[in-house]
Amino acid sequence: MIKIENLWVELNGNLILEDISLEIKKGEIVAIVGPNGGGKTTLIRTILGFVKPTKGRVLIDGKEPKDYIKSGKVGYLPQKSSYERDFPVSALDVVMFGLVEVKISKKEKEKKALEVLRYVGMESFKDKPFGKLSGGQQQRVMIARAIISEPELLILDEPSTGVDVVAQESFYEFIKKLNQEKGITVLMITHDIGAVGSFVHKVVGLNKKLHYFGDFKDFLQKSNVDKLYGSEVKLLIHSPECFTCQYFNVEVKKH
Ligand SMILES: Nc1ncnc2c1ncn2[C@@H]1O[C@H](COP(=O)(O)OP(=O)(O)O)[C@@H](O)[C@H]1O
Ligand SMILES: [Mg+2]
Repeated sequence: MIKIENLWVELNGNLILEDISLEIKKGEIVAIVGPNGGGKTTLIRTILGFVKPTKGRVLIDGKEPKDYIKSGKVGYLPQKSSYERDFPVSALDVVMFGLVEVKISKKEKEKKALEVLRYVGMESFKDKPFGKLSGGQQQRVMIARAIISEPELLILDEPSTGVDVVAQESFYEFIKKLNQEKGITVLMITHDIGAVGSFVHKVVGLNKKLHYFGDFKDFLQKSNVDKLYGSEVKLLIHSPECFTCQYFNVEVKKH
């Protein structure tokens, strides 16, 4: 579904992504992990066609990103900081905004928006101001907005940042359900390697270069994690008995 071929990206003369090649199949859930500043957001912005490659290319379903996006088949949830302002609008309005380019009547948009709000368990909050909702509730509303156009591809940039652990778990359950019930391909940037490990199909380990691309189990081998996070990382060990648990919650600390 997504084919990235020898992709190089420079921003303001700085090399951000170096020779990335990978392929994501339809129906997969893929996690992108790596240290802060490693180019994760830049990679998905390139997949979305917002950033132009310096060399190489991205194809989605055989099409240029811009052409694929135009078809309305992509739902995108940006990194949280970019919408975390005090929206004076209702949850329903936020969701309806996901149909801004679709030419149907306001009544029909409202009906669809209510449907997806129900799907994410937020129907009873439809009239609440978005800014007054909790982090987890806001995230659900944003997901409703991202899926209202019935996308084939859902791209999420750190969807659980600022969401408490309980809300996080139900959020990931929801992503799993979305993938299983609707067959949506999901690409998400996350730091919760532990929480997503049980259900992601592939892991992309990115730090300028592609350090890892494969399944979660192999990713957990110490050499792979060390290679990706290097000496700048401090791993939080939650349970010393559990080898893999030491990678749950990877916190990047500069020395
Ligand atoms: N518009 C831009 N212009 C110049 N440099 C940028 C721009 N956006 C991001 N960068 C730089 O690219 C690098 C990767 O950033 P980003 O893709 O946001 O990483 P991540 O999402 O992995 O934290 C960082 O060093 C960042 O400063
Ligand atoms: Mg980022």
